[in-house]
Amino acid sequence: MDMDGKVVLVTGAGFPNGIGAGIAHCFSKEGAAVVLVDLEGAPLDETAAGMPGEAIGLTADAASQKAMTEAANRAMEQYGHIDVLVNNAGVVGPDPMQEMPTEDIPGATVADQLWDKSLTANLHTTYASSIAVVPKMVDKGSVVNIASVAALGPQPGQPAYGAAKAGVVHLTKTHAIQFAPRRIRVNCICPGLLWTRAWEMGTANMKRNNPEYRDKAQREIFEQIVAQTTPLGAEQTPEDIGHLAVFFSSDKARMITGAVVAVGGGMEL
Ligand SMILES: NC(=O)c1ccc[n+]([C@@H]2O[C@H](COP(=O)([O-])OP(=O)(O)OC[C@H]3O[C@@H](n4cnc5c(N)ncnc54)[C@H](O)[C@@H]3O)[C@@H](O)[C@H]2O)c1
Repeated sequence: MDMDGKVVLVTGAGFPNGIGAGIAHCFSKEGAAVVLVDLEGAPLDETAAGMPGEAIGLTADAASQKAMTEAANRAMEQYGHIDVLVNNAGVVGPDPMQEMPTEDIPGATVADQLWDKSLTANLHTTYASSIAVVPKMVDKGSVVNIASVAALGPQPGQPAYGAAKAGVVHLTKTHAIQFAPRRIRVNCICPGLLWTRAWEMGTANMKRNNPEYRDKAQREIFEQIVAQTTPLGAEQTPEDIGHLAVFFSSDKARMITGAVVAVGGGMEL
């Protein structure tokens, strides 16, 4: 799918093995210039250097309209236009072990601070970045929001994360209608299980907190979860997500907006 001449801004794309970098790589392979945005601390320059085409890395908090407006202005100075925004920044969790224990309803209570943190990292990022970047798109564009299969059905261990990602699905549909008069399409991808830093940290916590996992390697724990939960029997790759993001942003999808598609090997069924 031809992305020649397009400029694509991807949030949360600072780590080379993350979903954001994988999505950016797919756009870059199709000829787009990519703008990688992440929080300070991510190895942005190294990740940008690993792209097959033109790429820059910018430090910004995707939950801040001000910071994202500055990032978008910087991208405009460099490339003159922005055609695609991928709202990928997010934080998986909080880990159930960080939640406040209740004897009656295990896992149901989330400390206020953790609730706010999860809603900010996973939902407010999508809103703030869209509001900052979409005005730069001139009459035609594509926004791709990355939610999770956790948005599509209850995740008893992760009430805040599930609610935030369900909010991303809802916001996708609202923005699809609001941005349609300017021919800006908004679609959503719900990934299932991918071996990224998020799961590296998640399995480290599981090993620490759960005697059942103590003697297992982190990767082994992840593979066990994939085998137990995914009908197609395999984890997804960042490219599985990136291919759909490229399709959503291509002219082949010119009449698709407000769509929500799971890429989870059937995990969501
Ligand atoms: N890995 C999975 O199995 C999985 C499954 C479903 C959905 N997701 C979603 O996919 C997205 C990417 O996850 P990942 O697995 O690559 O995780 P990751 O932790 O490897 O990458 C997330 C990236 O987002 C960045 N980030 C977080 N908050 C930010 C902010 N406010 N501003 C800018 N950057 C920010 C982080 O620094 C990091 O680089 C997330 O939205 C996550 O919820 C992941």
